[in-house]
Amino acid sequence: MFYSPVITNASEAAKSDKLHLFRYVEDPDQVKVATYEQHGGYKAWRKALTGMSPEQVAETVKNAGLRGRGGAGFPTGLKWGFVPKNSPKPRYLVCNADESEPGTCKDRVLMERDPHAVIEGMAIAAYAIGCHVMFIYIRGEFNHSIDRMEAAMREAYAAGHLGKNLYGTGYDLEMIVHTGGGAYICGEETALLNSLEGERGMSRMRPPFPAIEGLYACPTIVNNVETLATVPHIINHGAEWYRKLGTEKSAGTKIFSLSGHVKRPGNYEVELGFNLKKFIYDPAFGNGIIGDKKLKGVIPGGASTPFLTPDMIDVGLDYESLTVKGSMLGSGAVIVFHEQTCIVWVLLKLIHFFHHESCGKCTPCREGTAWLEQIIHRIEAGEGHPGDIEAMDEVCSNILGRTICPLGDAAVMPIQSAIRLYRDEWQYHIDNHRCLVDTRFEFK
Ligand SMILES: Cc1cc2nc3c(=O)[nH]c(=O)nc-3n(C[C@H](O)[C@H](O)[C@H](O)COP(=O)(O)O)c2cc1C
Ligand code: SF4
Repeated sequence: MFYSPVITNASEAAKSDKLHLFRYVEDPDQVKVATYEQHGGYKAWRKALTGMSPEQVAETVKNAGLRGRGGAGFPTGLKWGFVPKNSPKPRYLVCNADESEPGTCKDRVLMERDPHAVIEGMAIAAYAIGCHVMFIYIRGEFNHSIDRMEAAMREAYAAGHLGKNLYGTGYDLEMIVHTGGGAYICGEETALLNSLEGERGMSRMRPPFPAIEGLYACPTIVNNVETLATVPHIINHGAEWYRKLGTEKSAGTKIFSLSGHVKRPGNYEVELGFNLKKFIYDPAFGNGIIGDKKLKGVIPGGASTPFLTPDMIDVGLDYESLTVKGSMLGSGAVIVFHEQTCIVWVLLKLIHFFHHESCGKCTPCREGTAWLEQIIHRIEAGEGHPGDIEAMDEVCSNILGRTICPLGDAAVMPIQSAIRLYRDEWQYHIDNHRCLVDTRFEFK
């Protein structure tokens, strides 16, 4: 049985009555429908379909306070409620498994090691919005996730959890696994829908929002893998149980992908509000910085979120606390940098990524990311000009809030925060035509 070599805290989750997403991810048989059922799997789907109305399902998820784990943190039950009740068109559910945000590798673990949890969550969400054909759009490079999801889907059909007249209720539900288009922008929900329709992955103008006019111009809900994998637990244990986990406004648990200069990178499920400093230094999680070096900074929520400096990391990993510190929870990818990391170099890598991944539809993002890459490239190469920092600031302000989709904002937020928090280092590069730190990005 192949497993991606990633550390998880599944053994902690197995002992905990709170952690639920990772409880069985180290059991190699969890991918089989029989084992999943033995562990209580598909009970929630049966319960929802045979004993609850779609409205009751959506209301339970809403009352639980579940917020989308794809990045924006939008309340899940509320989003489901936006699907028009009386539309004569078919409705669609799309599970967003594109997982392209740099640093994020949590959905992949769920798909590879607990694929039926994803299917069960999708089925319940589909029922809640009155959908009979649901899709999972999986990042094209994730061959193993695609194989796992396809195998699990076949087993779910054979076991009667998908298909016609489910559990004798007359409800039909079909599932389609779709291989993604291989671009970061295809994770943005409207570009994803374009790609799913066979078009080039480019974002759409909103309104109309997908819940009103999404796939094939029909009402569509797009939800992240982790969001959907959480739903069966809420249906099984109830909204009250879920609300008690995490913090008042950030309910539940979340999987954080920890990477960069830590001794124990991995995917860890923790209650929202878990302390970031503890997350980096505790032996059960990051176990401190490689080589016991000093910390220089952290990106707490994936490449598109603002930096935190060492004095800012005594903070809860939840939507509200990180916002107070000027950053964001994003997709939950915590990237750690030690003292010998050149911030200008890091930003060059990030802006290269965003420039390359810009779909090109709107001018501020298409041109602005190119200019930013040019400026940062020359600063990094020791050829920066006086005024370059101000020029970057100006380009950033002309992108922020002026683009069709949030990729433009995502590109500038780390840059703006890196200028604010590490300005001396940028200036040193420009004035001295060299790097302030001795060595570049080292992982050893
Ligand atoms: C550039 C960009 C890339 C994104 N990539 C992903 C992704 O890989 N996976 C994901 O679930 N959401 C991604 N999102 C967020 C989706 O647009 C959407 O908000 C999310 O899938 C909704 O699911 P949720 O409500 O369960 O979070 C991305 C957004 C942007 C702007
Ligand atoms: S912000 Fe960038 S990625 Fe988004 S639509 Fe505009 S050009 Fe495309």
